[in-house]
Amino acid sequence: MQKNIDGLTISKIEFLRKELHKHNYLYYIKDDPEISDSEYDRMMKELIELEKSYPDLSSPDSPSMRVGAPPLSVFATTEHTIPMLSLDNGFDDSDVLTFDKRIKKNLNTSDEILYTAEPKLDGIAVELVYENGRLSRASTRGDGTRGELITENIRTIRSVPLLLQNSDKIKTPALLEVRGEVVMGHAGFKKLNRNQLANNLNIFANPRNAAAGSLRQLDSKITAQRPLEIFVYGIGRATNIFAESHWEYLCILKKLGFRINSLIKSGLTIKAVIEYYREISEKRNSLPYDIDGVVLKVDSLKMQQSLGATSRSPRWAIAYKFAAMQETTKIIDIDVQVGRTGVLTPVAILAPVNIAGVNVTRATLHNEDEIKRKDIKTGDTVLVQRAGDVIPEIVKVIDSGRTGDEQKFSMPANCPVCGAEVVREKDESAARCVNTDCPAQIKERIKHFASKAAFDVEGLGDKLVEQLVEKKICTSCADIFYLNIEKLKTLDRMGDISAKNIIKAVEKSKKISFSRFIYGLGIRHVGEHLAKILADHYNSFDGLAKKLPEEIEAVEGIGPVVAESIFNYFRQDKNLEIINSIIKSGVKVIYESAKKKGTLEGSAFVITGVLETWTRSRIKKIIESAGGRVNSSLSHKTDYLLAGKSAGSKLTRAKTLGIKIIDEDKFKSMLDS
Ligand code: IVH
Repeated sequence: MQKNIDGLTISKIEFLRKELHKHNYLYYIKDDPEISDSEYDRMMKELIELEKSYPDLSSPDSPSMRVGAPPLSVFATTEHTIPMLSLDNGFDDSDVLTFDKRIKKNLNTSDEILYTAEPKLDGIAVELVYENGRLSRASTRGDGTRGELITENIRTIRSVPLLLQNSDKIKTPALLEVRGEVVMGHAGFKKLNRNQLANNLNIFANPRNAAAGSLRQLDSKITAQRPLEIFVYGIGRATNIFAESHWEYLCILKKLGFRINSLIKSGLTIKAVIEYYREISEKRNSLPYDIDGVVLKVDSLKMQQSLGATSRSPRWAIAYKFAAMQETTKIIDIDVQVGRTGVLTPVAILAPVNIAGVNVTRATLHNEDEIKRKDIKTGDTVLVQRAGDVIPEIVKVIDSGRTGDEQKFSMPANCPVCGAEVVREKDESAARCVNTDCPAQIKERIKHFASKAAFDVEGLGDKLVEQLVEKKICTSCADIFYLNIEKLKTLDRMGDISAKNIIKAVEKSKKISFSRFIYGLGIRHVGEHLAKILADHYNSFDGLAKKLPEEIEAVEGIGPVVAESIFNYFRQDKNLEIINSIIKSGVKVIYESAKKKGTLEGSAFVITGVLETWTRSRIKKIIESAGGRVNSSLSHKTDYLLAGKSAGSKLTRAKTLGIKIIDEDKFKSMLDS
């Protein structure tokens, strides 16, 4: 039953909607939030509750629509009044230069043509229709003339404005059709797949499929859970929008509250476009979303019009595609590698295949479950993907390539390197070799120990480490510090100079921060980030080694699994011996916590009056963690009186005792120093 509507409720709802729209815009479009996520969530919750109590006041533009609407039984379709065309493709510089020549010929000019160049986003093309400033419809590209209506799903995407931004320069258009690409970022994609896996659901092969699958949900509440984003790149029909160039269109769209890709550049000659392509190719691997090329568009709208379009694609634009990052090849064999913590990783040995300029011969298969899920067998024809610097992966098996001769894979019962037992613990996907003295594990531990983010021993590469372990010169990480020229010279192709350089590099690595040292030990689950947290908190190995799991877990940022793993690591005498031996060799550890603590080290504080920034218990913790002490009464041993507002007798007494009096600002500056 709806409650009676009163003016106060209406204005409260209006206020919340306006605030939520504003903060959504600041967060997703401007990338400049003004309030915390929890404050946003609180307002959203309040709005949803009010709208539930007063259904008559619900509205399709309400920010509450971002959580999804009642499910549909089928998607309706809609016609694109102006067809959503495709793009012609170019694959090398000469294709793009030919395109430029053709444009000049068609326009009957020899003047330089100026282009806008944009990343070609690898997602799903959509059209958003705004009527009088409100999102009224949204559809997929479909076959270009007719697409599916996915309005409810599009409303859940935070970077889609439900209402256009007011701008003093642009009159709200009665009709505006905006075109863009819905994408899923890499981080969101990984998280989604992890979730799918945990819930026994199918995983998506790539972010594009995940975006498509998410947009095609009949229940928009599911779409609302998916990390979708939008970038807009064009306009269909529009009233009241006046521009001379594509770039101006983009600027107007930006003013109206749309998200425009920040890598777009305008005013480029064809030569500059080719440079742009190289720049973007280099950036490609570090972008948080997939792109598959760049799009160049003749900037002048007049020229665009005179060039026109074929039934398939405009003559004023072309996609300069990157070389494909996926190829098909055959799995010749499946090898098993042993990692530093004993984890057995199956690796596919491939018939060599060139993927975007790199010769690929191996692909990781992750673990047994992954092989089962993808139904991968030796002899299979597979689609292999190379992305960024990561090890190539198998996307899927090409079923039509099966002959029946393929061999099923099973994890060996014994370690392929040392022959020890292989175990797979409950709730773990990894199988492990239980022998910590397994040469494969030792090799990997030493490689990790000497790596850049750890001890950074220059020149101690993988091949050298492998020889050192095989010749039993090194049986642990500590042995690196006991190397000498004679020992090194027993290795293949090791001359005097190289040996001397390695000894020098080892010496140089002996001065190391506590966090790098911890990271270098290769404790299970302790990566660079957690090593830093531990080093900030503890000021010696002893301090850390003696702690119980629950004490370690009390450190902010450390979870129970990590705490348990650290605890177990220090329970093994062998590990303690290695650390001792490293320290004994003359390694000098620089403790981060000591540096930090130094700020107030040994200082005695008394606090009086009302503090604005901290509660008493909080400030006590801050002072103590920076190495100071807090006493309740003044004495000649007091170094500082931290005086807040309305300080009374203590302030007078401190003055008579000649104790240094500081306020909150001064205290903050002491912490920063
Ligand atoms: S312009 C008429 N710009 O590429 C021009 N398209 O093969 C049509 N795409 O369906 C599109 N990024 O999904 C344009 N910056 C961009 C794009 C882009 C990705 C997609 C779009 C379109 C397909 C064309």
